[in-house]
Amino acid sequence: MNYYQLAKPLLFQFDAEIAHDITLKSLKYAEKSGLLALYPKPPVCQSRQVMGLSFPNPVGLAAGLDKNGAVIDGMAALGFGFVEVGTVTPRAQPGNLKPRLFRVKEAQGVINRFGFNNLGVDNLIENVKSAQYKGVLGINIGKNFDTPMENAVDDYLICMKKVYEHASYITVNISSPNTKNLRALQEKEALSSLLASLKSEQNKLAQQHGKYVPITLKIAPDLTQEQVVEIADLLMQHQIDGVIATNTTLARDVVKGMKNGDETGGLSGAPVRNQSTIVIQQLSKQLQNALPIIGVGGILSGADAVEKIAAGADLVQVYSGLIYQGPKLVRDICTALG
Ligand SMILES: Cc1cc2nc3c(=O)[nH]c(=O)nc-3n(C[C@H](O)[C@H](O)[C@H](O)COP(=O)(O)O)c2cc1C
Repeated sequence: MNYYQLAKPLLFQFDAEIAHDITLKSLKYAEKSGLLALYPKPPVCQSRQVMGLSFPNPVGLAAGLDKNGAVIDGMAALGFGFVEVGTVTPRAQPGNLKPRLFRVKEAQGVINRFGFNNLGVDNLIENVKSAQYKGVLGINIGKNFDTPMENAVDDYLICMKKVYEHASYITVNISSPNTKNLRALQEKEALSSLLASLKSEQNKLAQQHGKYVPITLKIAPDLTQEQVVEIADLLMQHQIDGVIATNTTLARDVVKGMKNGDETGGLSGAPVRNQSTIVIQQLSKQLQNALPIIGVGGILSGADAVEKIAAGADLVQVYSGLIYQGPKLVRDICTALG
């Protein structure tokens, strides 16, 4: 029985953020009550070694669904091969005013302008410590909205130092469209200086903790081919461990005229699929396997995941697909990837 297909029409009656909160609370309840043990195990699917880490399967939870790492065990029970929590910032912040999450049902899309609402990095670490999960855990870090751009690097370093010993890998998110000017960090000079600081901190922390924690950079789909090539070159130059492509898009052409289609924020789900795939192809061509690519954006079926791998991705992540397909999507992808 596919319980999500039963729950979905009810959830879709609610405002999107309320439905999101109900889903997280239900998972938390299932975690606490032991109900999670009843959830079927995912089909056995190829394990992978990427960035020196062992992934039992290549399907991950994308950042933003469990921003505070409050439901790690619940997410893991859905069969993901890895779980990414965050984006977390040094200090707690409320995010933008509600409403800030919208379904574009007609196109199987989602628009959000959350603006990194989260309870701060210290809270996330406490949650990580109390989780039972022992699998691959990515911690995605960002900057507070009120930290001036000239001090943005400091926010990433504060978070990096704090999460280092608790993460399997750390994602540096410079591609959310909902924090003013964040995407300017993708520009050549700013990015080169950010990556240099992160790499130097990573080396220090690796010595200090006797453990090497890979860093991945998460980029936007709204980049020209020239910019993608420039970013790929910088990633290789600074020996960054991986790249996540992509975040949500500012483009609206695919959802023009649809209900909620003109809401401000980042668009995800099916409408971002092609743009993400193109960025992955461009990265793959330039990187020539120098570092792995985690493909995300518009994966709503096993076939979509196959397409991302064919474009050059080593692993995939999903978010919006879960809203439209439910957790069975993880199994579908595992089956399709074999
Ligand atoms: C509601 C929502 C919140 C998100 N929050 C974050 C976030 O905090 N950090 C981040 O790196 N990506 C965030 N994302 C982007 C997703 O991780 C993913 O990159 C993007 O949505 C494309 O994948 P999808 O089409 O499978 O959703 C968010 C996406 C959505 C829909």
